[in-house]
Amino acid sequence: MTKRSIITIPDPVLREVCAPIATVDDDIRALADDMLETMYDAPGIGLAASQIGILKRIFVLDVAKEDAPKEPMVFINPEIVWSSEDLSVYQEGCLSIPDYFEDVERPAEVAVKFLNREGNAQEIRADGLLATCVQHELDHLNGKLFIDYLSKLKRDRVVKKFTKQAKLAGKL
Ligand code: NI
Repeated sequence: MTKRSIITIPDPVLREVCAPIATVDDDIRALADDMLETMYDAPGIGLAASQIGILKRIFVLDVAKEDAPKEPMVFINPEIVWSSEDLSVYQEGCLSIPDYFEDVERPAEVAVKFLNREGNAQEIRADGLLATCVQHELDHLNGKLFIDYLSKLKRDRVVKKFTKQAKLAGKL
């Protein structure tokens, strides 16, 4: 397993739409393992492939409580097949927008279809933090970030801040 570096805004890679994965093979499993290692190391509870510059439809997450055993999950070609009308609000953050947190309202429950690490089709119903996390990570695969749900004023402010930081770091 290799730890990869996490891309932060305003890198345009984060706005790319990821492509479906044709075959779940050892390369994809190795990618999933790298992503999990990168996520745990950060530390974070979810990571999408575009966040490490890989434009493939895969994300990983683990929403187990800190003192509980790890529960890594791998979602390949995920698709939300049902969303509840009920909404819930969570304070979200993102490894690509470090140290920035804002409340986001999303469907409280979703059903998601995906291929697991073994390439088997699975469908789960998620609520609570898992539901939010699945939607946040799936958004990444479509080039969407949680700041897109905020007011233009808030979004512009955070993008400006990170753009300035990237310039200072010589990354722009
Ligand atoms: Ni994120």
